[in-house]
Amino acid sequence: EELEKGNFEHYMLKEIFEQPRIVKDCMRGRIDLKVGQISLEGLKNHTKQLKAAKRILIVGCGTSWHAGLIGEYLIEEYARVPVEVEYASEFRYRNPVIGEDDIVIAISQSGETADTIAAINLAKLNGATILSVCNVVGSSIPRLSDGVVYTHAGPEIGVASTKAFTAQVTVLTLMALFMAQNRGTITSSQLIELQTELSTITSKMQTVLDVNKAVKEIAKRISAFGNCLFLGRGIGFPVALEGALKLKEISYIHAEGYPAAEMKHGPIALIDANMPVIFIATKGPSYDKVISNIQEVKARKGNVIAIATEGDKILKEIADEVIEIPAVNECFLPLLAVIPLQLLSYYAAVMRGCNVDQPRNLAKSVTVE
Ligand code: G6P
Repeated sequence: EELEKGNFEHYMLKEIFEQPRIVKDCMRGRIDLKVGQISLEGLKNHTKQLKAAKRILIVGCGTSWHAGLIGEYLIEEYARVPVEVEYASEFRYRNPVIGEDDIVIAISQSGETADTIAAINLAKLNGATILSVCNVVGSSIPRLSDGVVYTHAGPEIGVASTKAFTAQVTVLTLMALFMAQNRGTITSSQLIELQTELSTITSKMQTVLDVNKAVKEIAKRISAFGNCLFLGRGIGFPVALEGALKLKEISYIHAEGYPAAEMKHGPIALIDANMPVIFIATKGPSYDKVISNIQEVKARKGNVIAIATEGDKILKEIADEVIEIPAVNECFLPLLAVIPLQLLSYYAAVMRGCNVDQPRNLAKSVTVE
């Protein structure tokens, strides 16, 4: 077991550091810069349905549900199909309107989550096409699906998902571009441009991992607090949700993820000198709005930690701490921005003496209700 962990103290840390390689593996053979095409073997028999789809439903639980929210953003942006994302556990117990023209994308690392399986069965009964994004080859969810795109992240041992999440996001990005290419909602030059940028993402992920040391210091400060707020907008919002989930799962610090603009509708009441607030504040369409949210937090003596684009001078002035990540197309932001959040949670949990790889009360895969 020690051997498998290599030089890492925990599986979770090893898995965080594996991410650039895994994302690369995940794209291998699926991106072809010469031809400028995305090929996804698991979807090749469903191009007709994907072309005709009027609506896509995404179901999943936990971290997989967060990946689904990112998928929604990407599919709507590039393929221009309306997407709804649901907790599998909620979907299965209402009376959802779903039919033969619908495509359901089930996302699951393990492929064995009971609620996701039940949601798939319900969608199948109603005639929908089931596609899945899964990590474990041959598990129940791929077997129940009409088509599957595997994440190829290898076994994930840490209970809190890290590398499986970035692999899911990579696959969903490829799926969104694949759908866009089939539906003709993207030009071939746009497609080549995006694929070219995507193929450089792993070296940027490596750069983010190199900020490790600075993150450790910030984690030390966070570990002393009982609460933490994560805020982001647009595609940064699901990243904030995932950051909050990681922190509560392994360090037991109460954490909430919120869309930054919703802060004024509730969470702002919680802000004082004892509330660290982590902002996804990278350069992008909502940058200026996020800056004003940060100013509102500072005016209430909150502690601001900003995930910022390299070289951002404004944030250096107004935030208490800044974690820099390389500039990236907004659509690929989650693959970079989630890494410092995973590291923050990891180090905060270690400093609090928590069992990082096997947090209390949690299971790697929830196979019963
Ligand atoms: C459990 C795990 C989470 C995971 C969720 C969904 O709660 O602890 O890390 O995100 O199940 O699991 P799945 O295997 O379906 O992705």
